[in-house]
Amino acid sequence: MRQKLVAGNWKMNGSKALLADLLPSLVQEKGLSCQFLVCPPFPYLPLVAEQLASSELLLGAQDCAATAEGAYTGEVSAAMLADLGVSFVLLGHSERRSYQQEQNQLILEKTFRALEQGLRPLLCVGESLEQREAGQTKEVILQQLAAIVPELNGQQLEQLVIAYEPVWAIGTGLTATPEQAQEVHQQIRTYLRQVAPHAAEQMSLLYGGSVKADNAASLFAMPDIDGGLIGGASLDASQFLAIARAAS
Ligand code: PGA
Repeated sequence: MRQKLVAGNWKMNGSKALLADLLPSLVQEKGLSCQFLVCPPFPYLPLVAEQLASSELLLGAQDCAATAEGAYTGEVSAAMLADLGVSFVLLGHSERRSYQQEQNQLILEKTFRALEQGLRPLLCVGESLEQREAGQTKEVILQQLAAIVPELNGQQLEQLVIAYEPVWAIGTGLTATPEQAQEVHQQIRTYLRQVAPHAAEQMSLLYGGSVKADNAASLFAMPDIDGGLIGGASLDASQFLAIARAAS
């Protein structure tokens, strides 16, 4: 059974004031049939973890180190995240691929570190506008997946969540239409059936890129879209809850 999942990616936004504003209504939400989680910046993880204790809301991080521990100034290990009660970690987000020059090999190492600590990797893939216009969408997505998926065993694949996030739709207000998103999700599912037939039907595939309360339901109604990775709209409790309810 594929699980529905809605994840909020706060990116480099947030403050203690935002936590006070946002979390009370999120932690009160009960009875959603989807998993839902927030991924705040590292410094806020312990504060958020305290407030989530008796709620259904889960905690995710936005990245983890590719190495397990040691002399890596400024890095945050998967073990530290697990220690704080984090259960998911975003990996390979297009902003990190672009601003931190993260390459597939590094993302694979991070995936292994996360899995070793029992964290579920939420792997992001997506094409740029130039790539879409050049007709390279499928090729780009499958290349990004081919660097990670075949390296994982069946048990590890069951932990993996994939988020398709077209780069041109992130933070731009330009959402992929449900049909455009479904087309890529179907290509991803077909690829997974070929390389990981046992895991393919279990894996949740999320869509991300300008998902809002008013377009979530039509995206989530598509057969291969199992939820969303939400940036801007996850900073607004009523929007984020409306999106989670749409998935639920
Ligand atoms: P957005 O971001 O919803 O603000 O477009 C999505 C993401 O980057 O995860």
